[in-house]
Amino acid sequence: MNITNDIKYVGVNDHKIDLFEGQYVVPDGMAYNSYVIVDDKIAVMDSVDVNFGNLWLENIENTIGERKPDYLIVQHMEPDHSSSVALFAKKYPHAEIVLSEKSVPMIKNYFGTDFLQRCTAVGEGDTLPLGKHNLTFVTAPMVHWPEVIVTYDSTDKVLFSADAFGKFGALDVEDDDWACEARRYYFGIVGKYGPQAKALLEKAKTLDIQTICPLHGPVLKENLGYYIDLYNTWSSYGVESEGVVIAYTSVYGNTKKAVLELKERLEQNGCPKVVVFDLARCDMSEAVEDAFRYGKLVLATTTYNSGIFPFMREFIFTLAEHNYQNRTIAFIENGTWAPNATKTMKSMLEKCKNLIYSQNEVKILSSVTPEVSEQLESLAKELCKE
Ligand code: FEO
Repeated sequence: MNITNDIKYVGVNDHKIDLFEGQYVVPDGMAYNSYVIVDDKIAVMDSVDVNFGNLWLENIENTIGERKPDYLIVQHMEPDHSSSVALFAKKYPHAEIVLSEKSVPMIKNYFGTDFLQRCTAVGEGDTLPLGKHNLTFVTAPMVHWPEVIVTYDSTDKVLFSADAFGKFGALDVEDDDWACEARRYYFGIVGKYGPQAKALLEKAKTLDIQTICPLHGPVLKENLGYYIDLYNTWSSYGVESEGVVIAYTSVYGNTKKAVLELKERLEQNGCPKVVVFDLARCDMSEAVEDAFRYGKLVLATTTYNSGIFPFMREFIFTLAEHNYQNRTIAFIENGTWAPNATKTMKSMLEKCKNLIYSQNEVKILSSVTPEVSEQLESLAKELCKE
């Protein structure tokens, strides 16, 4: 696949993977992108997961024929991109490995000192001329690891963006909704590092970019403003869509009953979108994604072992860990003898910035009574006020 006349795609699709990064379900597989820039000198942009290392080397050979790469540019040391570096180093003993200063100890820790003498460290603004193409390196710490660099080719106006602008899903699976799996990927993997992602966007603003080549997901060539706008919203923890997410756990169905009633009441009160997640049964990364997408979140759970039900505990912990902020939150608690779920949920969210708690809270004492229904109606009205 040609990205431009001189830039070719040599990445791979992974349909064998069960969990990306050991935790994310990827029903459409995963792509590990790699690119070759063919010029007077040849540069390969990143490697791939080692399970596909030989296929990747074949792709390179099929693309450049008898020629040999002069450089392997390692933008990110996470093994989904770097674990085939040793295979490459062995096959191409004269190629130089170009990486950030912070990657040097990492490459040593992963591969020993075998090819350390062939590594050249680069930093902010350093350049690498290939002939017609001139590459400039831009540091992007914590998008998604501290050593990350992205690379700008000023000739073809291409940004090699590392994990930024990536998404779940292999490239041979059709997906006409980029944002859905890109959002789940972003908030799961990079979401904690909004300020750092924003800093990269600020640097990117100074570049004339016509194509974005990420390390996962499709190459982005058209309507780049759409993707950049979404990244601006996501990295600033802004509200992308109006609506209410209700995340719940239910042991015997009573909390679920209240949740479904609230959904109905929200819709009757004109809420533009209500999304419900049963945290014990859903893919939690979808619930996390939507908690960041929409502006309002209702947390409904039971009191359990003097705290809250385990799936809700994990959900709130994950939100707080990912710097959840700038949202309206409402609480529904259920308990038969000593309900204290709302208090526990609030204490878990204590460190999150700029959360507004609804005035109406719903307290269920075992089952949904007419009094509970009244509380649900008041809450629905409050959440639909604006
Ligand atoms: Fe795609 Fe952070 O590795």
